[in-house]
Amino acid sequence: MSLDQKYFTGVVWQDFQHKELMDLFVKMRKARADKQDKESFRFAIAFLSMYVNHHFKLEEEYMDIYYYPEKESHKKEHKGFIKTLKEFRLEHKDYSEEAIDELMKKINKWILNHIFGDDKKLGSHILAAEKTNNE
Ligand SMILES: [Fe+2]
Ligand SMILES: [Fe+2]
Repeated sequence: MSLDQKYFTGVVWQDFQHKELMDLFVKMRKARADKQDKESFRFAIAFLSMYVNHHFKLEEEYMDIYYYPEKESHKKEHKGFIKTLKEFRLEHKDYSEEAIDELMKKINKWILNHIFGDDKKLGSHILAAEKTNNE
């Protein structure tokens, strides 16, 4: 299991995608350990960016649908992360162990903190809203 249960929001698609994100990190860690070529590292980062964009968009759609009161600050967090990731990709066009280490430290930590804080709050809001809808 690549994602500890304490990070679960209870929203099925959200937990699924968070797990997928963590699996990507496992893959990148493996790529680093196996000293894979630059191409596979670049591919992994590009895929991560694509997946993160897709995931953020979906969360933001739900914020809109369910009138999430903290949507502005949550969207701001997403935007900031995308910027960080973009900068990272510009700085590390080539595979290097330092690049992977930096990614693991900064980005993995950011995502986990974000899930544990903002996403769990959003998850509770979605669950409550869907419960009301089903009553
Ligand atoms: Fe998320
Ligand atoms: Fe989020």
